[in-house]
Amino acid sequence: MIESLSIKNLRIVEALELSLSEGLNVVSGENGAGKTTVLEAVYLLARGKSFRHREVAPLVREGTDHLEVVGRFREGVGARHVLGTRRSRSDSLVRLDGRTKVKRSEILGLLPVQLVGADAAELVSGEPRLRRSFIDAGLFHVEPGHLKVLQRYQRTLDQRNRALREDRPEFRHWDDQLVDYGVTIDSARKRYLEELEEQIRSWLARWELGVSVDFHYRQGWAQTETLAQAVERLGATDRLQHFTSCGPHRADWVLVGATTRSGKTLSRGQLKMLVGACHLAQAEMLKERGRAVPVLLFDDLPSELDRGNRERLLAGIVDSYPQVLLTALAAEDLPINSGRLFHVEQGRLVP
Ligand SMILES: Nc1ncnc2c1ncn2[C@@H]1O[C@H](COP(=O)(O)OP(=O)(O)OP(=O)(O)O)[C@@H](O)[C@H]1O
Ligand SMILES: [Mg+2]
Repeated sequence: MIESLSIKNLRIVEALELSLSEGLNVVSGENGAGKTTVLEAVYLLARGKSFRHREVAPLVREGTDHLEVVGRFREGVGARHVLGTRRSRSDSLVRLDGRTKVKRSEILGLLPVQLVGADAAELVSGEPRLRRSFIDAGLFHVEPGHLKVLQRYQRTLDQRNRALREDRPEFRHWDDQLVDYGVTIDSARKRYLEELEEQIRSWLARWELGVSVDFHYRQGWAQTETLAQAVERLGATDRLQHFTSCGPHRADWVLVGATTRSGKTLSRGQLKMLVGACHLAQAEMLKERGRAVPVLLFDDLPSELDRGNRERLLAGIVDSYPQVLLTALAAEDLPINSGRLFHVEQGRLVP
């Protein structure tokens, strides 16, 4: 749980100190006031990057040369830590408990956060990459070893693709490794999804929204063959196209005909509830395994949802996550009776 947060020179924020509570924390304010910036600060601290920009330059407040975020947090009921990050256009420094020059790998998973961005529906309607990383991030919390396999797969894939780009026949050298790691990733994802999908269905049923969805995992190569057969068969194609055309990097998790019972396409609000259910399902799986449930960052929760759905979603969230940080244009838009409220104007806290 994050106990306090200090943000300096991040976008519109010059200096902002927040003392957070367990459970619900709500940041409200008008457009451009700095609400998403607060979530961005937490994400930057926990994951080492922003979810809005790849580069540092747009994040650093105009007229200044570096930003800084410091968070005090507790690992479950265990140790307390102080984690800080300082970024300039040319430099990046991470500090943990007074130690400087900490490597990113050292803090990986130390402060788990989960983000639902302002365009929540993207998870269903956006690029396959978003769904792959949703699954892999969820899996990483359940089976931390998954990340290593993914990294090894990616490295092998990069090497194979480089050889293909340079038209070197040695690209075949990487086939066995690609298949080994690929099969491990594929079966972990399938195991994970089986349980996740059941949890999602149960949230949708509980909410009685009349929304049903069929899930389909496309593994990234033909169902009728093994990955080894696909890699072997597609070698000639890969050579022509100069990239590896099959494997779990091409997978997708399709929420087939995310439709209402009558077969109609889901509305924006229904889609948002479905995405909410996907996240709640992940939290549920972690809870059942006694693992740390991430801090949930939910941008603009009330938008697109009617009162009833806001209540349903919020009740699920409060029940499933030990700590939540969410934003809304106005706190009155949220049916809440507990938690801490922060109102921001022009990047400043207003009492
Ligand atoms: N590098 C920067 N320096 C100064 N100000 C910046 C910088 N980058 C963005 N801004 C400003 O910071 C604000 C960003 O605020 P943020 O996106 O957090 O707003 P918000 O409260 O989430 O608004 P909305 O309700 O529209 O989502 C905007 O007013 C933007 O113009
Ligand atoms: Mg915003």
